[in-house]
Amino acid sequence: MSHQLLKGRKGLIFGALNDKSIAWKVAELAVAEGAEIVLTNTPVSIRLGEINRLAEQCGTVVIPADATSVADLEALVDGTMEHFGGRFDFVLHAVAMSPNIRKGRAYTDVNYDFFQKTVDISALSFHKLLQTLYKKDALNEWGSVVALSYIAADRAMPGYNDMADAKAMLQSITRNFGLIYGREKHVRINTVSQSPTMTTAGQGIDGMKEMVGYTDRISPLGNATAEDCAGYVLTLFSDLTRKVTMQNLYHDGGYSSLLPVME
Ligand SMILES: NC(=O)c1ccc[n+]([C@@H]2O[C@H](COP(=O)([O-])OP(=O)(O)OC[C@H]3O[C@@H](n4cnc5c(N)ncnc54)[C@H](O)[C@@H]3O)[C@@H](O)[C@H]2O)c1
Repeated sequence: MSHQLLKGRKGLIFGALNDKSIAWKVAELAVAEGAEIVLTNTPVSIRLGEINRLAEQCGTVVIPADATSVADLEALVDGTMEHFGGRFDFVLHAVAMSPNIRKGRAYTDVNYDFFQKTVDISALSFHKLLQTLYKKDALNEWGSVVALSYIAADRAMPGYNDMADAKAMLQSITRNFGLIYGREKHVRINTVSQSPTMTTAGQGIDGMKEMVGYTDRISPLGNATAEDCAGYVLTLFSDLTRKVTMQNLYHDGGYSSLLPVME
């Protein structure tokens, strides 16, 4: 049932690759809740994935951008403002990739060129995005920006590899940019730390299948699904959470508050 929580709101959504993507579920729910959206992904993901189908379903456009390229981000923000006829209200950053994970390199044997790519795609891209939005004054007052994180940013989990370090940086950027953007424009910035979820990115992580089963079993409420995540993210885009900013918000069925011995 729709509550029209985002009626009249406009937003930009990164990271919908296919219908397993968390961003896909956020896009669908945002539109069902009354928002207008613009979608974006890399040219290769647009070609290989299914985002054009989502755009058709949501009655919108896809503007290609590599989130590591400031020039692309500038063109994307300009294109989004042109599409909406002015400023917009919310942004989802659902972007991550680790070449070390992809190539099966252990955390004790990472390739440092790959490491830099991991950080650029998964963390620095968030700063680049925020800086572009800020300089272009692209967001309305009380706008909301959400990025997606994972518990391995805060707790050791070797299988998450260099992505753990990138997510820790993502959370730090959230606090530091959130302070400035909040004071100056009342724009709020948060990360949602989501349960392990069997998306394309999720499936690439060593031990993910076992992790999904384990956390689902021991979390009091079970794992949060991608659909659940969309619901939570939407509350953060809505006016109901206007004073929430600079937070890393666990969305994991209670898992993060358990001791490992409690099974
Ligand atoms: N799946 C999980 O278990 C899980 C848990 C916590 C957090 N997250 C986070 O959720 C977010 C979305 O991932 P997902 O699980 O939906 O997987 P996904 O594979 O569906 O989405 C990852 C997206 O990142 C995009 N991307 C990669 N490089 C990019 C670049 N240079 N520029 C722009 N986009 C780029 C991909 O095209 C893809 O759409 C990621 O930040 C991920 O780390 C996932």
